[in-house]
Amino acid sequence: MTGQLRHMLRDDDLNHAEQLQVLELGMKFRENRFYRQPFAGPQAVAVLFDKPSTRTRSSFSIGVAELGGYPLVIDKSGSQLGRGEPVADTARVLTRMAYGIVWRTFGQDRVEAMAKYATCPVVNALTDDFHPCQVLADFLTIAQFRGGVKALAGKTIAYVGDAANNMANSYLLAGAVAGMHVRVAGPYGYLPRKDIVDDAERLAAENGGSILVTTDPREAVAGADCVFTDTWVSMGEEAEYAIRSKPFWDYQVNDDLMALAQPDALFQHCLPAYRGKEVTTSVIDGPQSVVWDEAENRLHAQKALLTWLVGQQRGDESLLA
Ligand code: CP
Ligand code: NVA
Repeated sequence: MTGQLRHMLRDDDLNHAEQLQVLELGMKFRENRFYRQPFAGPQAVAVLFDKPSTRTRSSFSIGVAELGGYPLVIDKSGSQLGRGEPVADTARVLTRMAYGIVWRTFGQDRVEAMAKYATCPVVNALTDDFHPCQVLADFLTIAQFRGGVKALAGKTIAYVGDAANNMANSYLLAGAVAGMHVRVAGPYGYLPRKDIVDDAERLAAENGGSILVTTDPREAVAGADCVFTDTWVSMGEEAEYAIRSKPFWDYQVNDDLMALAQPDALFQHCLPAYRGKEVTTSVIDGPQSVVWDEAENRLHAQKALLTWLVGQQRGDESLLA
């Protein structure tokens, strides 16, 4: 195979077959933390943060090290990027030294600009619009507990809460790519953008899934195999805290709502969680919750993604499976 530079900027940057490949690779890394070491050398991967992080920071730092590489972690406060150096200039410098660039930032246009000028794979580690690494880990978690990667297509997933945020958007796109039935519920004013719903509907039709966007949390959760929620106030929205809490109370994931899903439905939350707000303690700390496996799966899923991306770039099939 000839090498091809690929990036992961939004969930539909992988097609159905590619998403399956990455998730199968994730299962291999679950079994053997040192399954592949594409960055042996060590080769460096730059991991940049313009927003806070615990899980993404630790899983990429530890993950790159376990892949044989060196994680160069740079925070906004310690970089020229944080002082306004153009993204294009940063991209052209980092790409001369690093073998991959992972970035958590605000606008989606910023990771797109990084990818335009980088000659190594660029990975979106969360933007205002998408969190594709998280959803790969979430799907790996469903695969872990519910019959493997091939059993993902046809499953029904429900996301309830702020349906206009990055997690909702990523479930829509990644679930559509996977051929799942994706249901998203949020209050008026907090529903996903039309262009994202349109893309998800097209992808779902191609892959045998379906999309439902509703203001009724019960309709979304009824019969679901997995229920997801997320904070009502995402990073960067802290000033809206007071006005945001109000519309979401009907969308809290509690025992009554979970009772409408499949009896063995899984509960997932990307974390950090606010108990008593978007989810009750009884659910997140209850028997259906798999949030700690979900958090661990960030490590395995992202190692798989990085390995797959450099495998594509190098034209090395041994890194794709
Ligand atoms: N879920 C997630 O991305 O967590 P962090 O903000 O801690 O990285
Ligand atoms: N929607 C949340 C996800 C955190 C991992 C945020 O963007 O803050």
